[in-house]
Amino acid sequence: MKAVILVGGLGTRLRPLTCNTPKPMLPLVGTPFIEWMLTNLRDQGIDEAILAVQYLADRFRASLGDGSRLGMKVHIIEEPEPRGTAGAVKHVAHLLDDTMFVFNGDVMTDLDLQGMLRYHRKRKSELTIALTPVEDPTAFGLVETTAAGRITRFLEKPRPEEVTTNMINAGTYIMEPHLLDYVPARQHYMFERGLFPTALQNNHAMYGYASDAYWTDIGKPQTYLEVHHDILNGKVRFGLPGQQIRPDVWVGDNTIIHSSAQIHGAVVIGNGVTIEADVTIVGPTVIGAGSHIGAGTHISGSVVWQVNHIGTQCRIDRAVIGNHNYIANQNTIHAGTIISDRCRIASHNHLANGLRLWPNSTISEQSITF
Ligand code: GTP
Repeated sequence: MKAVILVGGLGTRLRPLTCNTPKPMLPLVGTPFIEWMLTNLRDQGIDEAILAVQYLADRFRASLGDGSRLGMKVHIIEEPEPRGTAGAVKHVAHLLDDTMFVFNGDVMTDLDLQGMLRYHRKRKSELTIALTPVEDPTAFGLVETTAAGRITRFLEKPRPEEVTTNMINAGTYIMEPHLLDYVPARQHYMFERGLFPTALQNNHAMYGYASDAYWTDIGKPQTYLEVHHDILNGKVRFGLPGQQIRPDVWVGDNTIIHSSAQIHGAVVIGNGVTIEADVTIVGPTVIGAGSHIGAGTHISGSVVWQVNHIGTQCRIDRAVIGNHNYIANQNTIHAGTIISDRCRIASHNHLANGLRLWPNSTISEQSITF
């Protein structure tokens, strides 16, 4: 069975984390999200994946190659320019000759794919869309169905008074390849506003597959943090790396934790990390490989990628910190702050108000103190 995974987007909402790393390659507890996704597909019987890439395409090639490391066949196909969600599938249509899955490359879900496939086949559906309930559907694509699941209407980002269901398009589809005939070649074309309403107008059999499987779109800073919290709190199946030294603490190889440091789970600490005296780490928190946490520092609810130096007496709360940053002593980094890669922050700063530091930013001593 083949799957097309859409991974060509710019990931603008997650900038600056996506300046150097395409969104599907962002680490989740140290592993690129796309690797988790491919492994999950493989484990559910999908043995061939076509990655529709565009932005930072080389990063996918370097990391995934032909997929053999993950035990599946991976094709990485680059678009000459962004073709949109449906246009991207059309661009790889020469590789598709049978029923296929299509996935948005930024959705973390443990949906039962074989169950969805059985549902698709039983109804002789031509297009089946996974649906998930959300509290506020106004930011999403609503999908209305009959009681039997047949799709009757699509509504993109409805106004509150237009909301008739809380079921939204969850970004996983099963499609018959002939539907791609509706997608114009070599053009930007979207599923949501293009192919789906067109196929519906032409009376094709389209069904919604509702489930309450775990579902999060990792594409916003808040949800990127939340998905970590969900993984660490066990809400979604995820093999945590390292040795489990306590029920809720995992530690990698060659990591040194001072005996006076306090770690209150759920916390994952990568390989080669040094944690000095009187550090407090409060979960859910991830400390990436090769990082150094100075004495007396307090970190809670945060995701720290690899090879970061964090000085002494810092306070970091619900922040995301990328790779290779140098954060000097006595800095306070408040909730919502994103620091991307290779930034240098001198001592005695207070970073807050959703501040986002772009790669290679420098902040001098006491320059941000609100
Ligand atoms: P934002 O810029 O933050 O909205 O993120 P995004 O660019 O990823 O857009 P969006 O979340 O709407 O995209 C949904 C999925 O489709 C993501 O997995 C994207 O990578 C993918 N995608 C969006 N546009 C394209 C495209 O033109 N080509 C390809 N190949 N994939 C796309």
